[in-house]
Amino acid sequence: MGEDLLLLGMPQTLALRTAPLADPTAAILVLYVAEGAPPAGAAAAHWAATGLDFERVAGSAAFRGKAGQVLDIAAPSGLAARRLLLLGAGPAPDPAQPVAGAAWADRGGSLAARLMALTPGDVAVILDGPEATPEAVAELTAGLRLRHYRFDKYKSRKRDDETAETLEIALHVADPAATAAAIAARLPSVEGQVLARDLINEPPNTLGTVEFAARAAEMASLGLDVEILGQSELEALGLRALLSVSQGSARPPRLVIMRWNGGDPGAAPLAFVGKGVVFDSGGISIKPAAGMEDMKGDMGGAAAVTGLMHALARRRAKANVVGLIGVVENMPSGTAMRPGDIVRALSGTTIEIVNTDAEGRLVLADALWYAQQRFRPRLVVDLATLTGAIGVALGSDHAGLFANDDELASRLVAAGLVTGEKLWRMPLGPAYDKQIESRFADIKNSGGRPAGSITAAQFLLRFIDSTPWAHLDIAGVALNSPASETNAGWASGFGVALLDRFVRDYES
Ligand code: BES
Ligand code: MN
Ligand code: ZN
Repeated sequence: MGEDLLLLGMPQTLALRTAPLADPTAAILVLYVAEGAPPAGAAAAHWAATGLDFERVAGSAAFRGKAGQVLDIAAPSGLAARRLLLLGAGPAPDPAQPVAGAAWADRGGSLAARLMALTPGDVAVILDGPEATPEAVAELTAGLRLRHYRFDKYKSRKRDDETAETLEIALHVADPAATAAAIAARLPSVEGQVLARDLINEPPNTLGTVEFAARAAEMASLGLDVEILGQSELEALGLRALLSVSQGSARPPRLVIMRWNGGDPGAAPLAFVGKGVVFDSGGISIKPAAGMEDMKGDMGGAAAVTGLMHALARRRAKANVVGLIGVVENMPSGTAMRPGDIVRALSGTTIEIVNTDAEGRLVLADALWYAQQRFRPRLVVDLATLTGAIGVALGSDHAGLFANDDELASRLVAAGLVTGEKLWRMPLGPAYDKQIESRFADIKNSGGRPAGSITAAQFLLRFIDSTPWAHLDIAGVALNSPASETNAGWASGFGVALLDRFVRDYES
């Protein structure tokens, strides 16, 4: 018997279930074919039923089985299906080199793109062979959902291919129950990633600081403990670095604390801290007009932390985790901070603000310090769209990783390789402190252009006590992302899958 799972995507619903390999009955039959080889295993039997000559058909359609290639056959004879899709699976499996998770997600992504372009119907996907493990099929499912994601709530006209009909997909596998369990374990992180994308894509007029905090507060229904600190509480506590950013905006600041206590009672939590600048105009050091609209996504770190907490609650992770997001808006106004201002951060360190556009580190300085003092976490990881310079260095394929702890760094790098959300470690070092020395205060908030991402990280390090700490600069990967097999584009939701995977290392 098949195992039912349901995924929602609006307006079209994606309904998934697993089923045994025998007797698929759907209108659309999908077979995977390895590069340069004829259909194998169960796919070979279905192909044989058509009576078609594979070499001849594939050859005349220039189908080579390359990843992303599709051979679409209408009204195949010998099959119950009215349509047969052969999808390229890429290079033939090599037992020494198992197909990476990201490649499975890509397979799911290209399948989703193809199915959305077809007149809808129920679909049977045949997945057999030793490499189609439950985890691999779960990855394919993740790719399917992520490619199916659209952010078109503000489009008045429907797309031509848009339909409210349900896309029913049965995944025919050797072990339906084990596959359903693997999918159920993977889906919470996918849903968290979708939440992060939704938050990042949302325009800045509809997602202000109050609205963002309200979205986090809704997650209390999942069993998360959500606490929201506002202006007066932050003032009383002394988070003056964070407050200096929000003071130019009509929107009040929020520090949102989300806790998931699924681990041993009393065990020190893992802490994740996100930069949540709902819009970064640059402030008085205003940004140029071109591309400024992208700065609605300057809360990508906070969105990833929120998506992660959603995922952990959904899968009832066996770990104690606290997510903190500093949610502010950086605007120029008569009340805005000025270049030259000196503020005392929560830690007591004084900061000379020399560039009001280097605001993210001011938010993180206080959020990191608060997280460490209040929760005494076992480790802290921050995520931030912190510097344009990281995009210059690494482009959109890797996020920058900075860490004061080698073990933490290597665990994060490893989680990135498994999930495809790759990290590249960047250096820290006291030599960079020179650039953020201030004539008037303990430090200044910008070290200028050279090594811009490193001096930003070196600034954050000043607000870390002895806690193992890592900083992920996701400015190059969180927003303005190129279209890919698993993303139609712009917001990627980077970080949720990576950290969900990372947290598993610490579960009891
Ligand atoms: N939010 C920006 C960084 C950013 C740039 C994110 C592009 C996403 C895409 C950040 O607040 C910023 O403005 N950084 C400055 C730092 C500089 C003033 C030291 C930058 O990168 O130019
Ligand atoms: Mn800025
Ligand atoms: Zn910013």
